[in-house]
Amino acid sequence: MINIIGAGLAGLAAAIECAKSGRECRLISKQPSERAQSVLAEGGINAALDTMGENDTWEEHFNDTMNGGVQLADPNAVENLTKNAPETVRYLINIGAGLNMQGDKPVLRNFGGQKKKRTAFAKTGTGKIIMTALINESRKYEAKGLIHRYMHHSLSDLYISGGKCYGAEITDEYSGEILSLDGAVILACGGLNGFFDGASTGTTQNDGTAAVIAFARGAELANLEFIQYHPTTISISGKRMLISEAARGEGGRLYIKRNNKNYYFMEEKYPELGNLMPRDVVSREMYSAVHTEGLGNTVFLDMSGVPQSTWDKKLSDLRKECIHYLSVDPAKEDIPVEPGIHYFMGGINVDETHKTNIDGLYAAGECAAQYHGANRLGGNSMLGAVYGGITAAKNITDTSGNMSSQKKPAIYLAPENDEKLKNALIEGLGIVRSETTINAALEKLYKIDGYGENARLALGEAMLLSALGRRESRGAHCRSDFPDKDENYRRTSIAVYCGGNVTIDLRDIPKRRENSENKA
Ligand code: FUM
Repeated sequence: MINIIGAGLAGLAAAIECAKSGRECRLISKQPSERAQSVLAEGGINAALDTMGENDTWEEHFNDTMNGGVQLADPNAVENLTKNAPETVRYLINIGAGLNMQGDKPVLRNFGGQKKKRTAFAKTGTGKIIMTALINESRKYEAKGLIHRYMHHSLSDLYISGGKCYGAEITDEYSGEILSLDGAVILACGGLNGFFDGASTGTTQNDGTAAVIAFARGAELANLEFIQYHPTTISISGKRMLISEAARGEGGRLYIKRNNKNYYFMEEKYPELGNLMPRDVVSREMYSAVHTEGLGNTVFLDMSGVPQSTWDKKLSDLRKECIHYLSVDPAKEDIPVEPGIHYFMGGINVDETHKTNIDGLYAAGECAAQYHGANRLGGNSMLGAVYGGITAAKNITDTSGNMSSQKKPAIYLAPENDEKLKNALIEGLGIVRSETTINAALEKLYKIDGYGENARLALGEAMLLSALGRRESRGAHCRSDFPDKDENYRRTSIAVYCGGNVTIDLRDIPKRRENSENKA
């Protein structure tokens, strides 16, 4: 039996794929799928469907993805992803995802870092619409006894010995009952938001515990220094509200006041893509306008040029949310925006088939480091999650054997220590970092109770050490003391936890294959 931990896009896609091929799986999640982070995904899903008469091709999607990630992603994996993207989106439409359509063709919008319209969408509620279709589809297989749901259960350990995963220990969140489940495991538990409680756009239900357990049990983590700051977020009720990139895709413009006039800095500095440069570039320019150029404290999003028909057909939910949560109508007033933590390019290291360094242990979706390199393009996360889940399910083979009990690693921190860890990480891993800020953060982390024994602290340390070790600026990792890209660092940083120690190494990126074959 395959155990899938997490029931968002990647977990559902993996479960359906297992079931379609007649294999039984358990779908285990803390929350019902309806409350997964994936439901909050807004702007769209990328595929070179070429429905807008622009002669788009998967090769251009490949190039934009590799360039957006500053050549740090595995090119073979990105080739598989982009080649299969149109089929993946068509599959979602076929199972009932109600995307914006013109006749039988999905309408595509502009999104960051891409020169052609390539992002299929359902207004700005794309995640909800795709999740609804996948949830319905998964229920058919539940009814057939192929998908077994374990709701309100969380991962509490993995059974790993001799480099092989034999099962998962899960805990019933209501009764506290512990269950030992045999079989191979796919982790699909989302990003590391819980390490940045309140500072990220994502749900802190995705607390990173699965990654902590995997790390403690010998799984490699990759590229942890690459944390995406989304340019347009707003602090609200202890978290960051996302103003979808769709706002800029449909004509929104960023400006800051200079000499009492609106200075549309992205358009002046980047005439080709302007406000739709990749997110790392936009966020850095916003940071620089405020902190380096000293042009004031506030960058605004101006949507005054968006036509009424676009508000109605493509952005009505974004407008409603702004009115509801911010008491601002973006069609009439400019919105003050700031970059906020949005996505973790790094995570559990996987190969093109989504296998980790441990046999029988796979990872997909945001918890896995795959496809995005040093910076993810908007619209590639939903694609990577669905395609990654399908690929993991196609490639995983079941395991059975040694489920003997093992000494438990310490994986949780007391709330006051978690807060200290969060503050250290925010200090060390801002939009712009330096040896000084990272070392100051490390010094704070070393003083937190449990250091040297607690795997959650070890994962935090691994993030900071990865950032310290990458002595260059690339994508979302910007070092004020090493402002240039350095080809010697065009390598994956790999973190390993062993005997209470964290080590970081750089590993070569696979070379691109001629005529690649893939199973997806
Ligand atoms: O801005 C957005 O709608 C986010 C999309 C994404 O991160 O893919």
